[in-house]
Amino acid sequence: MKKSDKPINPSRRNFLKGVSSGIVGAYAITPNLKIENLPKEISDSIEGKVKLTLKVNGEKISKSVKPNTTLADFIREELKLTGTKIVCNQGECGSCTVLMNGEAVYSCHLLALDADGSEIITVEGLLNNDELNSVQKSFIDNDGLQCGFCTPGQIISAYALLKNNPNPTDEEIKNGMSGNVCRCGAYPKIFDSVKDAINKKI
Ligand code: FES
Ligand code: FES
Repeated sequence: MKKSDKPINPSRRNFLKGVSSGIVGAYAITPNLKIENLPKEISDSIEGKVKLTLKVNGEKISKSVKPNTTLADFIREELKLTGTKIVCNQGECGSCTVLMNGEAVYSCHLLALDADGSEIITVEGLLNNDELNSVQKSFIDNDGLQCGFCTPGQIISAYALLKNNPNPTDEEIKNGMSGNVCRCGAYPKIFDSVKDAINKKI
């Protein structure tokens, strides 16, 4: 088939591509044209953003993100849920732990797009009507923290552990919490906090 005989593909992607190049051309001759003043779908397309829909702490959220945005950055920067901490940023310390569909995951080690369609719970989402959850209370009651930087991740992991196994043995607690590093070495108190949370029921 000759090039000129090829059917025209009227897909949305091609349409947006065409519009985007037109806008870029217009921008060259109209320097005051700002990307933030363009229709959202077009500015997202120029910036290479992709739409993401998920539930976070019970709320349905739809946002456009750059494909290389990590879930941790999305939670902190886009949603302003800064309880989730980033420490190593390479999937080694557990400070950024959140629940994804009920499972504890390192949010710095996932892309936001990996969470498309899923349900995320951050440490803020553990509150019951503005009241601290019993795991959160146990960490306070047992001084299960020093600087507190690892604490949100520890609390999420403890919550996930007790949800799946309400009566863990000491060994199971140690294994369940082994993905969370505490640079302050508050491990004995963290252990006591998890033990105490067993009695408080989550
Ligand atoms: S910050 Fe994600 S594992 Fe350390
Ligand atoms: S309390 Fe400081 S890192 Fe754990």
